[in-house]
Formats: sequence, structure tokens, C-alpha cells
Amino acid sequence: MIKIAIFASGTGSNFEALLTAIDEGRLQAKATLLVCDKTGAPVIEKAKARAIPTFVFTPKAYGSKAQYEEAILNALKDHHVDWVILAGYMRLIGPVLLAAYEGRIINIHPSLLPKYKGKDAIERAFSAGEKEIGVSIHYVDAGMDTGEVITQEAIPLTGKETLPEVKAKIHQVEHRLYPKTLECLFKNS
Ligand code: GRF
Repeated sequence: MIKIAIFASGTGSNFEALLTAIDEGRLQAKATLLVCDKTGAPVIEKAKARAIPTFVFTPKAYGSKAQYEEAILNALKDHHVDWVILAGYMRLIGPVLLAAYEGRIINIHPSLLPKYKGKDAIERAFSAGEKEIGVSIHYVDAGMDTGEVITQEAIPLTGKETLPEVKAKIHQVEHRLYPKTLECLFKNS
């Protein structure tokens, strides 16, 4: 069974969707660790409710990114993690983790990459009046949302939706597409 660590910084609705897919047998994997860079993030309680171990750290408590990534790497090793799954982790992955896991780090991004890389992608696409938005799942490299795209799903908009409605549409697709894509990827790995 493939062991995954989920990295998240906030709400954790994708974390929840992945864990539900695992519980329902739609994703053959075991989540052995949550990595979170924000004390008090709601995702931490979600992990605790499911008895999933957590590694919660404060980046500023370390001298450098390399140092906190070494600490993460030790936790990944302790929990025998095979793949790293980013789900709303708001930091770039640095050389330490890339060297150990490149090709086995996946991210989900709420845009049709290469459009709207980086933060506030949904807000920016909405403000631009896009008639088609979407979700991308991609391999992680050193850049921000620049790694090779594995799959994308487009969502048509009428132009009459509110921003909360657009966000809800994106999340609905994310919660279905992420487990399904990981299941395919793990089966073929
Ligand atoms: C998602 O929209 C994901 O695409 C992006 O960050 C958001 C995380 O949401 N990378 P949640 O914490 O999973 O609810």
C-alpha cells in the first residue's frame, strides 16, 4: 500500500476529500502524515479527528528553508512516506524535499495552468471575466505551479455566477478529480 503525506496550510477540504476517498476504497493509499506550516489551521483538527499523525511547524523557528525541510524530511522518513501530496500548502518546495521526492510530489491548483499561477487564482480569473476556468493537477518542480500537468478539468461559466459560487464549483471538481487522478497515478507507478 502506497503511503502518502498530505501537506496543507488551511481549511483542508481537499485533505478531507482524499481521506474520504481512502475510506471508501476509491483511493488505494494510506495517509500516514499531515504536514502543516500554520499552527491553528483547521486542517490540523481534521487530521486529529481521523487519528492521522501531524507534523506542524513554524518556518520562522528555523534558521532557513533548508533546515525546516530537513525536519520535514525526517518526519516523512519516520512515517515511511512514498509520495507527497500538496493540498493547499502555501509554500514552494525547496531543494531538500525535491532531491528526496522529485517525481513523487503532486499539487492541485485552481486554474487551467499555465494561466493564473500562484496565489488567488480563482479571484484573478473571476475578475478577468473568464468564461472558462478549471482545475489542474501537476508534478511539483522548483517553480510556482510550473511542473508538468498530469490532468486538467475545465468548468464553463455563464458570467452570472458570484465569486462564492465559482469557488464552490472549483472545489467540487477538485474533490472528485484529486482522488481519481492519484488512484490512476499510483496504479501505474
Ligand atoms: C484549493 O483550491 C487548492 O487547489 C489550492 O488551495 C486550495 C486549498 O483548499 N492549492 P482546501 O484547504 O483544500 O480547502
